[in-house]
Amino acid sequence: MVAAPAFSGENVPAFEPADKPLLRFLTCGSVDDGKSTLIGRLLHESAAIPSDQLASLERDSRRFGTTGDDIDFSLLLDGLEDERQQRITIDVAYRFFATKRRSFIVADSPGHEQYTRNMATGASTADLALLLVDARKGAVAQTRRHSLICSLLGIRHVVLAVNKLDLVEFDRGVFDAIVDEFRRYVSDFHFASMEAIPISARYGDNVSNRSPRTPWYRGPSLLDYLETIDVTDSGDSTGFRFPVQWISRPHDDFRGIAGTVAAGSVAPGDPVIVAGSGVEATIKEIVTFGGPVDRARKGDAVTLTLAQEIDVTRGDLLTSPRSRAQFADQFAAHLIWMKEEQLVPGRSYWLKVGTRTVPASVTTLKHRIDIDSGAHIAARTLALNEIGFCNFATARQIAFDPYAENRDTGAFILIDRFTNETAAAGMIAFGLHRASNVHMQALTVSAEDRAALKAQHAAVVWLTGLSGAGKSTIANALEARLLAMGAHSMLLDGDNVRHGLNRDLGFTDTDRVENIRRLGEVAKLMADAGLIVITAFISPFRADRQMAREIVAPHPFIEVFVDTPLDECIRRDPKGLYAKARAGEIPNFTGLDSPYEPPEEPELRLSTVRRSVDALAETLIETLRAHGIVG
Ligand code: ADX
Repeated sequence: MVAAPAFSGENVPAFEPADKPLLRFLTCGSVDDGKSTLIGRLLHESAAIPSDQLASLERDSRRFGTTGDDIDFSLLLDGLEDERQQRITIDVAYRFFATKRRSFIVADSPGHEQYTRNMATGASTADLALLLVDARKGAVAQTRRHSLICSLLGIRHVVLAVNKLDLVEFDRGVFDAIVDEFRRYVSDFHFASMEAIPISARYGDNVSNRSPRTPWYRGPSLLDYLETIDVTDSGDSTGFRFPVQWISRPHDDFRGIAGTVAAGSVAPGDPVIVAGSGVEATIKEIVTFGGPVDRARKGDAVTLTLAQEIDVTRGDLLTSPRSRAQFADQFAAHLIWMKEEQLVPGRSYWLKVGTRTVPASVTTLKHRIDIDSGAHIAARTLALNEIGFCNFATARQIAFDPYAENRDTGAFILIDRFTNETAAAGMIAFGLHRASNVHMQALTVSAEDRAALKAQHAAVVWLTGLSGAGKSTIANALEARLLAMGAHSMLLDGDNVRHGLNRDLGFTDTDRVENIRRLGEVAKLMADAGLIVITAFISPFRADRQMAREIVAPHPFIEVFVDTPLDECIRRDPKGLYAKARAGEIPNFTGLDSPYEPPEEPELRLSTVRRSVDALAETLIETLRAHGIVG
């Protein structure tokens, strides 16, 4: 996972000797630019790692690491908790070194330009980016790409190391031209500082000592600069933020709220509120492993007790009442797509921000960002490593801050709901309050009242299966039986709805998601009207049938898999569509060049081969009886 900041905390060994501040930096550039040589030289020319720190690092590596008996430096990085649990392999190496003045963690990702997500992983916790360029080539497309990602990920400080100066005779003109051009490119990126240093990694010029070969350069050596740059201005501008990890109740008279401070600090006596509910309480005590303390600061893992008993649970966010977080169910965000399969706007993913996980979907993909030029390009989807700007809707309101104000409470990841893989990393730009002036209107007559008048229970019977599987035929037979029983029903059929409500939709993945979303909403309205709704749509994707189920809830949702093998559907081919599709006349045809994901746990599986329509309809009626929907 990337947006690691959302997951700082549990089990991550802190490394920050009190007398030595830590600088986390990211190196960007390719091997050809001399990156490994430079890192090697920095490690070599600086002092060794203090042995007690090494010992504890080794211990932790054995407990949590993935590198066997070797030290796993990634453990030094906050926030890789989820990555470790999910065992996502992201190719970022973390190196550690220290000088007398400072400790350093270097995140190093492969220089190949496709590895956006690797770079993003390293960037999400870095204070500074070291961009390396070859003096003979200047800032190439890749340098621009890296600086754009650094800026999106909230890195505030950038060093442009112009390397291989020995190969251009330490020519000041060459250096100045590269720096001028780069400054122009990043002028809109809002970096707090941008320093350019002429170096030769190979010969050590200006790496740890000023070089006599660049008398025209008056600035510090690279190491000097890294040792002294002030990065305390981390970009966090929110007040106290505390995502609640869990509630600790070791015995009846102690109730502690455990988590890691994501921003600001807090002391006993301070007021805090629960974002969302707005309920206020006062901090009574701050407990740590070492006993009570009188202040907790950003990065501290602590347990808070409150003077008042209030309702607070895992996933809540405590903030200072004077600087509240945003609370909304819609927001705009940058998204870095990290899955082989493309993003499908409209599809439901898990969204994890801080300690809260909710279902969410992209409602609009506003544009994709061309990483080389920075240009905004119209797009319908995002592929692996692409970056887009999207509007999101979450199933429930969530508390967050814009990423620019806080990298912890403004970062999120999207998780595939079926494979549990991390699909994307996101950075929230701003909340959308469009929906906040549209309130739900309470209705006098309820869905139950309407169903009761018809002496029945409303429900949605959702038939799914390949084209030609027999959905429409079975749905018709079922509805005829319901009518005969005196039940009030409605049948929604894919082909029919596509002539009216959904006539603007085709058969791309995105259109199919929207097809199912609208049909889920229509089915829900009809169930609210007290009807037994039967639907016959291919609905090929598991995630979207799950979405329909959630839309329809709390009405019963009976998923019926009309299970007819593809060969049999092709043999039947009632509308001649398979023949056409195979002749290349219909693209994206389900079962041929567009996938069908069979339900894993449908309420009913109907195998249609060698069974009469009547028998199948009877089985359906029995299922409805078993669910208490018909008598
Ligand atoms: S769904 O995939 O979005 O759920 P839906 O059930 O609404 O599909 O519509 C499927 C019907 O559209 C099929 O029964 C078939 O008659 C017709 N159709 C036309 N093109 C396609 C296609 N590319 N894939 C599947 N069905 C298609």
